[in-house]
Amino acid sequence: MRHTKVKDLLNSTTTLAEVNTKGWVRTFRNNQFIALNDGSTINNIQCVVDFENTPDETLKKITTGAAISVTGSLVESKGAGQKYEIKVSELEILGDSDAEKFPMQPKKHSLEFLRENAHLRVRTNAFGAIMRVRSVLSFAVHSYFQQKGFVYVNTPIITGADAEGAGEMFQVTSLPLDNLPKNEDGNIDYKKDFFGKHTNLTVSGQLEGETFAMALGQIYTFGPTFRAENSNTSRHLAEFWMIEPEVAFNDLNDNMDLAEDFIRYVIKYALDHCADDLKFLESRLLEEEKSKPQAERSEMTLLEKLNFVLENNFKRISYTEAIDILRNSTPNKKKKFQYSIDEWGADLQSEHERYLVEKHFKCPVILFDYPAKIKAFYMRLNEDGKTVRAMDILFPGIGEIVGGSQREERFEVLVEKMKALGISEEELWWYLDTRRFGSAVHSGFGLGFERLVLFVTGMTNIRDVIPFPRTPMNAEF
Ligand code: 4AD
Ligand code: MG
Repeated sequence: MRHTKVKDLLNSTTTLAEVNTKGWVRTFRNNQFIALNDGSTINNIQCVVDFENTPDETLKKITTGAAISVTGSLVESKGAGQKYEIKVSELEILGDSDAEKFPMQPKKHSLEFLRENAHLRVRTNAFGAIMRVRSVLSFAVHSYFQQKGFVYVNTPIITGADAEGAGEMFQVTSLPLDNLPKNEDGNIDYKKDFFGKHTNLTVSGQLEGETFAMALGQIYTFGPTFRAENSNTSRHLAEFWMIEPEVAFNDLNDNMDLAEDFIRYVIKYALDHCADDLKFLESRLLEEEKSKPQAERSEMTLLEKLNFVLENNFKRISYTEAIDILRNSTPNKKKKFQYSIDEWGADLQSEHERYLVEKHFKCPVILFDYPAKIKAFYMRLNEDGKTVRAMDILFPGIGEIVGGSQREERFEVLVEKMKALGISEEELWWYLDTRRFGSAVHSGFGLGFERLVLFVTGMTNIRDVIPFPRTPMNAEF
């Protein structure tokens, strides 16, 4: 007999004479009641064991973490909160689990402890829910763009280009590290490398994506990106997934419209397809909030927060307007911001971003027209000669979730900018070709997938929304 998923059993419309299901034991009470989970849903199915007719040897092996196969009848449950349970007629231990040694005990574990056990934490309710929501969100990303006729482009992981010009790249070499060939100057001779040049792991697929947008019209990438920035924060990973749409003939306003529409779509999709998981995550958060002082508790529940984003337009203001607001603000009674923001041209720190979103506007904010000096070389210079058509989307509890811009489409202006920043024209000859041949206004953005998953699940540390986090501290798995 084929086994049936727990989710399908719980959603059954009738009782069933004989079913089989397989999963992992979450708890076993009174030698009789197994809570069984198979990952298909946050909900466990209760399996009632006929303990009088089950050998002691078997009963002893029904422990938290054990894999079992259960056969029996699906009957109406007398227990609260569930429609059906399985009256077990046959139980097989597929893989036992030493109750003393299994790290995932039925009690609540700290998130720090769970991070050290990334290979097992997915067996907990919270991480099962988070990873299902993550999966549904990535499907929603494709669904959105595919419905709109965008072409999905797989940009290279190994590349010679530093798209962001920030120099935060992991180097890639095929040469033996203990015997790197040197040239006459004593520098590593990358000509002898497999790629014949200096390569790194991609920090963004944007530049390659732009070349495709200038032929296919509207494209998107969705893949892993790597940043060798040594930032140990709850918002940064060394390996994260980014979604980067790029659209020919879109200006900055079109770009903002696209980003807002896209974010709403994927959040709505998660609300429609992950109701049980989100409800669970919401109750988990409410539980957590109880231990906080009243003043620090969130004004909205998780679902209210998600619905708020669906129902309210994002506030759009220029960098210059934002600086004016921040200059005249006192974030708390005694102290100003830790980093002064009095000077026009300073980069916003996360405390400023969060102030604007969480305290001042109390809604997602799109900041645009940033000073050229603090943004990447490829952004379209405005007529004022000092700002660029950049946009960052800031979310409550997250800070920057999207970074994007209208691109500099004018060949001469772009080359001038590259020269000023010491970016090699020779190396980016292929990128410059998009401006040499049939150049046009175009725009795009990058959404950090984990920051989206953070927002939707209500988690607060980015390490908890990616299966195996890579951070300066951790790449064990
Ligand atoms: O702002 P960023 O650096 O922009 C780009 O890479 C552009 N090339 C995107 C584009 O226009 N096509 O990164 C985009 C987003 C950020 O807003 C943030 O959400 C996320 O990527 N991000 C990170 N997420 C996790 N860990 C990190 N270290 C991240 N760095 C950026
Ligand atoms: Mg950015």
